[in-house]
Amino acid sequence: MKKIVVGNWKMNPSSLKEAENLFEKIVKLMPRLKNTEVVVCPPVLFIEELEEISKKIKIGAQNVSSEKEGSYTGEVSAKMLKNMRVKHVIVGHSERRKIGETDIDVNRKIKATLSSSLVPVLCIGEEVRDEDNKYFDFIKTQLRDSLENISKSDITKIIVAYEPVWAIGTGASAATATEFFEMGIFIKKVLSDKFGLKVVSKIRIIYGGSVDEKNAEEFIKIGKADGFLIGRASLNAEKFSKIIKTCEVSNR
Ligand code: PGA
Repeated sequence: MKKIVVGNWKMNPSSLKEAENLFEKIVKLMPRLKNTEVVVCPPVLFIEELEEISKKIKIGAQNVSSEKEGSYTGEVSAKMLKNMRVKHVIVGHSERRKIGETDIDVNRKIKATLSSSLVPVLCIGEEVRDEDNKYFDFIKTQLRDSLENISKSDITKIIVAYEPVWAIGTGASAATATEFFEMGIFIKKVLSDKFGLKVVSKIRIIYGGSVDEKNAEEFIKIGKADGFLIGRASLNAEKFSKIIKTCEVSNR
């Protein structure tokens, strides 16, 4: 299975020119890839221009509407993204959950994404770790509710991104590779209980939260990550391309 590196640019940069410069720089620094897929999720209004620059990187979206079409001011539908040749959609990022997105919303967005043949990158992650290990129950509920009524054939198309909220953003520090390894096993167990053991080996489970060019290798080697979801480091072409290289080399 190929590794996957997904860059989430969030609400950056503030002009198309800067977005094009950053994208071009990443393309230039990227190694030749055989074993790794790279996806960049820019703000939606830059998507079409960036697609013109290179085919080496797939373009994704950071969010999608759960509705098909109609009177939903400010929303972007899965079909619109599909028509813009988008392949991947981040669904349920903690920054969206923070402004009210529930597991029910996430579930509807996953269904909308799949019905337009797009690949959902489902984000899950606890806000805090408690001593009684209740965060495992939290993750189990998030996974189960977000994936309610998804078919066995569709589940293999999904990528699960484990992003503990406490490890995301400025001032936070990443989980350890061992913490991710443990959580990866737990996620696989929850998925296999719900969908059967067979399908689980086809689902990529990636890590996100303060990933950089220094810690990426141990997440792959010790954590057995199938790839990464990257915020800040995806806005730095040097760092981002180093992480891509780490994935590519580790898969040989
Ligand atoms: P970070 O963000 O890499 O800046 O911690 C990760 C994310 O929000 O997906």
